[in-house]
Amino acid sequence: MRIAHISDLHFGRHIPAVVAGLQEALVQMRPDLVALSGDLTQRAKPHELEAAAAFIASLPRPTLAVPGNHDLPGWEPLSRLTAPWRRWKAHLGLPLETAIRGPGYLAIGLKTARRWGLHLDWSRGRINATQLARAQRLASSASPGALRILVAHHPFMLGHAERHRGRVGHAGTALTAFADAGIDLLLGGHLHLGYAGIAGRIVVSQAGTATSSRYKGEPNTFNRIAASRTEIRVECMHWTGGRFAPKRVWGFRRGPLGWQMA
Ligand SMILES: [Fe+2]
Ligand SMILES: [Fe+2]
Repeated sequence: MRIAHISDLHFGRHIPAVVAGLQEALVQMRPDLVALSGDLTQRAKPHELEAAAAFIASLPRPTLAVPGNHDLPGWEPLSRLTAPWRRWKAHLGLPLETAIRGPGYLAIGLKTARRWGLHLDWSRGRINATQLARAQRLASSASPGALRILVAHHPFMLGHAERHRGRVGHAGTALTAFADAGIDLLLGGHLHLGYAGIAGRIVVSQAGTATSSRYKGEPNTFNRIAASRTEIRVECMHWTGGRFAPKRVWGFRRGPLGWQMA
């Protein structure tokens, strides 16, 4: 199957020419699934969420989106604490966590963004026991040959350049549980850097910022993924100024002990 993995669109800080270029690239790609791993907006303003909704409506289907920390009302403490996801639901009209069963795959959305935390940096995310149990239950109910994909905003694996950042809270526990439940592929964002690798016997695809000007050392990117239950190929597509073009490829193979770099 072909998956278009896009992330951190940040409508409100988006670049219209890149949005149009991404729409064109996705039409050409004809993916079986478009996964959006959070930060659809810059500040969860109604007009930003509505722009994100119009963009999602323009994409090949099915699409699966999860929220990111920027999809919470950032500078409005009352809204953030009392009704954190009201705008997401009202202006985007999407559930916070959903799952799609398609031909040969199961994709599970998981909300890692939190309205607050016991630390100064509320942009961090985490996973709780209820969410773990849901993902395990869903993954265990997939047909034996189905590729099991999990989409979450915060990263389960850090590259060398971002090793000072935190992984999603409870990443270690979650990775063990996900591997035991047969999860093959984790799709994430948040760091605005595109890369792929292995974490806890599972393939990780991290997508950069697809359409925003919030650069962290690289241009706009998204990941094109070709995947089966035995082989996965992640291709990072970079914006060249006029179109998205292939930049780097990672290959993975399932071995007796789980997924490995090919
Ligand atoms: Fe972001
Ligand atoms: Fe984020």
